[in-house]
This record gives sequence, C-alpha cells and structure tokens, in this order.
Amino acid sequence: MKINENYLRLEESYLFASIAHKLAAWKEANPRREVIRLGIGDVTLPLVPAVTEAMHKAVDEMGRQETFHGYGPEQGYSFLREAVCGYYAARGTIIGEDEIFVSDGAKSDLGNILDVLSLQNTVLIPDPVYPVYVDTNVMAGRDIRYLSANRENGFLPLPDQAPRADIIYLCSPNNPTGAAYSREALRRWVAYAQEHGALILYDAAYEAFVCEEALARSIYEIDGARECAIEFCSLSKTAGFTGTRCGYTVVPKSLSFGGHGLHALWLRRQTTKFNGVPYIVQRGAQAVFSPEGQRQTRANLDYYRGNAALLAGALQARGVWYTGGKNSPYIWMKCPDGMSSWEFFDYLLERAGIVGTPGSGFGPGGEGYFRLTAFGDRGRTEKAAGLLKEIL
Ligand code: MLT
Repeated sequence: MKINENYLRLEESYLFASIAHKLAAWKEANPRREVIRLGIGDVTLPLVPAVTEAMHKAVDEMGRQETFHGYGPEQGYSFLREAVCGYYAARGTIIGEDEIFVSDGAKSDLGNILDVLSLQNTVLIPDPVYPVYVDTNVMAGRDIRYLSANRENGFLPLPDQAPRADIIYLCSPNNPTGAAYSREALRRWVAYAQEHGALILYDAAYEAFVCEEALARSIYEIDGARECAIEFCSLSKTAGFTGTRCGYTVVPKSLSFGGHGLHALWLRRQTTKFNGVPYIVQRGAQAVFSPEGQRQTRANLDYYRGNAALLAGALQARGVWYTGGKNSPYIWMKCPDGMSSWEFFDYLLERAGIVGTPGSGFGPGGEGYFRLTAFGDRGRTEKAAGLLKEIL
C-alpha cells in the first residue's frame, strides 16, 4: 500500500486550521485578554426567521409517518432547485432546473469537480486566492500555473497576462481581496476560454455582496459562458449557512468538451459518491429565496456592509492602503511599516487582541497584505475599528 504522496507537497495544515492553533496557544498564554475575531469568514448573525420557521416545519414533517422523507434526489429537491432558478431569473439569467446541483457548500464541490477532469489538464490559479483551489489540485497532482493578482491590476488579472491553461479558476467578488470583476472583464475571460477550449470554474460564493451595477453576480450574465463555465454558489455567506451547510453548483447542459457533456459526468459522479443534502436543510435553503427570506437576509448583508464600512473608515483615517469591503465582506489591507503578513498578524494580536488572516496564507502574492472580515458582530467590530485607529 502506498499513500498519495501529493499530500506531502501540501503545507502542513490548512490556513484556517493553522491560525486556530496559533490563536489557541496565544489564548493559553494570555487567558485574560479579550480576542476580536476578524479572521476566518464565519458569520455571526443567526439564521433569519423565515429559514428557522421552514426548518422547524420540516423537522415536524420528518417526525410523522405521512410526511417522512428518506433518501432524497442526489441533485437536490425540485422545490429548492426551482427556487434557485427563480433567484437567477429575477436577475435576468435563465438556468434550467436540471442544471442545478444542490450541495453541502461551495468548498466541497470546488474540490469534487476535479473528479471529472483529467489529471493531464493544466490549471490557472490567481495568486493570492482562496487556498482550496491550489490545495485540491496539489492533492490530485495537477500542474498549476499562477496568475499574479496585484495592486497594479487592481487584484483582477485579465487573460492577456495569463499563461495558457486548460482549467481557469476565477473568484468574484474575490476571496481574499474583495475585488470584483465587471461584466466587461468577464467577457474577456469567456472569450479567452472559448478561444482556447478551456473550462472556467467560477466561484460566486460572495455574489450577494455585489452592489455596483457594472459588476457581474453570475458568469452566466455573459454570452457564451454556458459553453465554458461552471458556477459554484453558497448560502454560507449569503444567508448565514456556514454551520447549516448548503450551496449549489450550476453545470450547464451545453458544456461539452471533446464531445462529452460535463453535466452527465457530474451527475454520474454525484449519484455515485453523494447522497444529497438533508431535507430539513433544503427546506431552510428554499426559504432563503422566498420574498420574506430575501428581505431578511438582505438586512443581514447590510449589517455586514456596515461593519466593512467601519473597518474601512479606520484604515482610511490612518492612511493605510486597502481595497475591498464594498462589494465584498473582505477588506484587503497593506501591512504597515513594511511588515510581513505574519509579522502583522502577531503585532495585531499582541497589541489589540484582533485576529485577522495573513495575506501570505492565500499565496506568495499576498505577502505584505492582510485580510479583515466584516462578518463579526457590530459591537466587537466597532471596538476593533477604534483599536486599529490607535495602533496603526
Ligand atoms: C474564508 O475565511 O476564507 C472562508 O470562510 C473560508 C471558506 O469559505 O471556506
């Protein structure tokens, strides 16, 4: 028996696990110090009433013989897939119900999709970026090429700067930088993918934060994207499902490579390796897309936007360069005084008890930068903003 030696090429632990270990050690050494967590993008507001009411009702259904549900459809219940279609249609984007695959979150599907793609494909990944794209491809042993996202290109690299690759990862609004592609920029990516026969894996987990008209919320707003892109969406950040787990992936039926439709391959993969998301969770997810659910979740997004404005205001007041925070819950700041990302992590923790995420954890291109999340609670975020003004 031999292990998959590709795992030996990974960093020793996943970024957020490393931060959690470091924080645990610090707390042990400083038991009386208060900690303000602006690190991992985990939400703090509870599920909205529309969702919990739907889930309570579903729990009761599961407890009665006449309404009990066993295995559900692997692709997700029709009621939820229809609701997702309606969510897209309200923005003028038409997706077929059978093109939607309900999942337990974007992270799983972003990793799992690699099952249906050849190991011989080369992969293009922006740097810095959400570490899951790199780690899952390292695990599989694929050849990765990097595309620099930097201050000069507004952390939104375009295809004319890109080395050739078969699979292209795009994340917009971006994790970690908060930068979001315009429709015009995405048109260039779609044209590039079509020209080179490449597949775009489009991570739209933060689409609900987009508030500027010129920015895209879905890659399918672009003509031709149905022939070259898969889109990954999540209710984690949109509706506070980080602990509840539900997302959806769109695989258009028109997506075909070498005469083989990816939809059929993905369906085959899912029906073999996945038994679907719990009925109760899918009922809760359906409620997110109801008019009441939309009104309530939008109020939560506004709350987080308010947090982002507080953090951005503190950086602005101290003349610290940053981007993001407007169409995204993340603020991407330059570390002060030439500090490295981890030096600033230690400095912020020691001086203010604030935990953030070192930019270098998202790739070498993130060195010298730092990410703050707006998902904290208002009181602590206000406190953090005050402390940032004091120590920067
Ligand atoms: C993050 O902080 O980058 C995210 O919470 C990670 C994730 O969504 O898996």
